[in-house]
Amino acid sequence: MRVDVVTIFPAYLEPARLSLLGKARDRGVVEIHSHDLRDWTTDRHRTVDDTPYGGGPGMVMRPEPWDAALRAIAGSSGPAPRPRVIVPTPAGRPFTQAYAAELAAEPWLAFCCGRYEGIDARVVDAWADDEVSIGDYVLSGGEVATLVMLEAITRLLPGAVGNAESVTDDSFAHGLLEGPVYTRPPEWAGRRVPDVLLSGDHGAIARWRREQALRRTARRRPDLLATLELHDRDRVVVAQTLAEEPCQPASDGAETTARPAGSDEPG
Ligand code: ADE
Repeated sequence: MRVDVVTIFPAYLEPARLSLLGKARDRGVVEIHSHDLRDWTTDRHRTVDDTPYGGGPGMVMRPEPWDAALRAIAGSSGPAPRPRVIVPTPAGRPFTQAYAAELAAEPWLAFCCGRYEGIDARVVDAWADDEVSIGDYVLSGGEVATLVMLEAITRLLPGAVGNAESVTDDSFAHGLLEGPVYTRPPEWAGRRVPDVLLSGDHGAIARWRREQALRRTARRRPDLLATLELHDRDRVVVAQTLAEEPCQPASDGAETTARPAGSDEPG
């Protein structure tokens, strides 16, 4: 996949050289080019903004540099293909795992990172395929939102993540939150790893994991359950969880699993 990012702060994209994104780039899974919008300004001060028509606070990004940048980028591969152009904005369509998967199927994406009060709506209308929000809060620009989306998208690309199963097991991959995970030692600070995980019984482990995912989702994000097809067994777990006393958000009933050492309650 090719990705172009247009911003007035190309340095914001430097973290995309690290960790998963960096490795995916090294392996040729994704190619990321960041561009300075000011390279497409024509005045001495390299101006990208102006006051909003109709008044009001702040500044709006002028359309001309954006149009010139997108023409240069989209035209750089010859006439035929053009990128799917994405404008991150809190006023956009919510970014989800399903949306990430949809974007991961594209050969070419271009992110336009606005700042100030946003980008002139005419150039957005002319170019944007998607206006996307990463959540109901306001950032100072689209750069961090672009990094978030790029990481979520890239980890879905074949060859980006060493163990493909870790992607298919992720939270949201099956519409459920992922349950708790443990590693050595089997006992730490008086807390034991749930016995079932040490049992070697793969069927029992899979059932336990599903139950934990259902319990966590029912407690933290019951809204996610509405669209899921649940088996009868799943429904029982959800009903039991919802009938329990509300507990602290972090525990999800994990107090019955990662229980204190020496406790003889069942795991
Ligand atoms: N730009 C500013 N806030 C944003 C958000 N929540 N999502 C996407 N882009 C943004």
